[in-house]
Amino acid sequence: MAKRPILIAPDPRLKEVAKDVPKVDADIRRLADDMLETMYAAEGIGLAATQLGVPLRVVVIDVAQKEDKFEPMVFINPKIVWASDEKAVFQEGCLSVPDIWDDVERPIAIKCEYLDRDGKPQTLEAEGLLADCLQHEIDHLNGTLFIDHLSRLKRAMAIKKLTKAKKRENA
Ligand code: NI
Repeated sequence: MAKRPILIAPDPRLKEVAKDVPKVDADIRRLADDMLETMYAAEGIGLAATQLGVPLRVVVIDVAQKEDKFEPMVFINPKIVWASDEKAVFQEGCLSVPDIWDDVERPIAIKCEYLDRDGKPQTLEAEGLLADCLQHEIDHLNGTLFIDHLSRLKRAMAIKKLTKAKKRENA
């Protein structure tokens, strides 16, 4: 396993639509393991391959680690096949959007079909934080950031802040 650098917005690679994984092989398992290591090191609860500049539909999540448990989950080619009409608001942040948090409203429960780390088809019914996190990560695979769900003004302010921070870093 190896930690990899996380792309920071604004970056055109974060806007790319990722492609389906054609076959779950050793390379994909290595990618998923690297993603988990990168996510844990950054103290995140989810990460999409897009955030490492890899345009493939792979997501890792662990929403249990906050309680000192480790429940790494790997989702390959995840697809939301059902979403509740009922919505919930979560305050979201993102490893690619540092130092910005805001409320995002999404369906409170979803049903997701995906391939696991062994390439086996699985179906997961999720609600609450896990459902929110999965929707946030699947958004990444479609080139969407959580700030894209905010009002135009809030999004513009966030991008300004990120661009400034990047300039400072490169100066
Ligand atoms: Ni994110």
